[in-house]
Amino acid sequence: MLQKPRGTRDFLPDEMEQRREIEGRMREVARRWGYREICTPEFEELDLFTIRSGEGIIQEMYVFEDKGGRPMALRPELTAPVLRMYVNEGKTLPKPLRWYYFADCFRYERPQKGRYRQFWQFGVELIGVDSALAEAEVIMLAEEILSSTGISFSIHIGHLALVRSLLSEIPEQEQKRIRMFLDKKNFDGLSDYLTSKGWDDLCTSLIQLTSCRNLNDVFAITGDLPEKARIGELFSILDTTGIPYTLDPGIARGLDYYTGMVFEIFAQNLGTENQVLGGGTYRLAHLFGGEDTPSCGFAIGFDRVMVARGDQGPPHQIMAGIAYTPDGRDWALAVAREFRAAGIRTEFDLSERSLTQQLSRLSKSADYALIIGKREKENSLVTLKNLRSGIQQELTLPEAISEVTGSEPR
Ligand code: HAM
Repeated sequence: MLQKPRGTRDFLPDEMEQRREIEGRMREVARRWGYREICTPEFEELDLFTIRSGEGIIQEMYVFEDKGGRPMALRPELTAPVLRMYVNEGKTLPKPLRWYYFADCFRYERPQKGRYRQFWQFGVELIGVDSALAEAEVIMLAEEILSSTGISFSIHIGHLALVRSLLSEIPEQEQKRIRMFLDKKNFDGLSDYLTSKGWDDLCTSLIQLTSCRNLNDVFAITGDLPEKARIGELFSILDTTGIPYTLDPGIARGLDYYTGMVFEIFAQNLGTENQVLGGGTYRLAHLFGGEDTPSCGFAIGFDRVMVARGDQGPPHQIMAGIAYTPDGRDWALAVAREFRAAGIRTEFDLSERSLTQQLSRLSKSADYALIIGKREKENSLVTLKNLRSGIQQELTLPEAISEVTGSEPR
């Protein structure tokens, strides 16, 4: 038997309905904040991702050559594609641009719960504005979207200038290595590495810095930074909104394009793969042939949100089933058409079994049975049976429709 590729999933209708419900809530919040949906290709030229996405991502990419010998990659994320699209099509649009996407990404990772080779991101990019207020908007939006999904989470916010200020004397290659340890929260590895280089003082201050939880302690270690006022402004805006967050100077982010504020959100009931969102301030447009453009955004790991919610069952929709005798079939088809036109989910029996057998099957799946025989056909009526209460009544078609549409979902 053929199987699906490792790290991919099939979704049955119960799961798809739950996913669509949550996706819908995310879209609705984004819409209310003025963000509009965009769409980019599933694959791009490989260069788009090798320019600035970072080692981690490059090693995990699905890369292939097309028939013309051009190197291509399935998108591992959407920030680079969205900024490529901005340079190609959006440069002249009035700024700031508020865009969102819901799309699948591909990374050749070791699969486990919450980590897949094909997964979906719900992301936003705010392009063309460089301010603490813009960063605060993106964080507030992330908080509101995740709240709408019903999961519990904690927001961690940092700024790359903080760690960078301690690394200014160190060559870029070593800085990268240190950021990778920080991104993986591998403090033992970090400390072994720094000790092996003879950088014990740096090790102490880095570890102290990453455990700071307020700005005074942070600046006591880093000293005055050019970014100090901007960082202070961001946190004071967030404080006025009352959004709960943790200052976390150790956030390094695995992608290489970030330039300033960075943030990550963790779900409270997940195991190791508990990061449900990553984002921050970055610059990419100038690398793709556009003008240097400030941007800020995030992506939510949609599948991790669904794991954090657990299986809550699909949202209930009222369902009507049509049971009929052979001489009522024409009228039954007309009734089904009218019910569907009224927006009611309506299933037509295809088994051609006896009325009793049809009703017994419907009692397991439907909320209402519409029983149609010769008498109903001759009088243009329907017999509507409420399968929960057992109450049965003979009604005109409009009466039956209003009875069903007026009922509450279970
Ligand atoms: P990222 O942190 O690489 O950032 O991915 C964002 C989120 O996607 C992660 O926090 C995680 O929830 C989810 N994710 C990543 N890999 C997997 C996987 N293999 N299986 C399931 N979920 C996964 C970005 O992609 C940036 N483009 C975010 C961004 C947008 N920054 C600015 N704008």
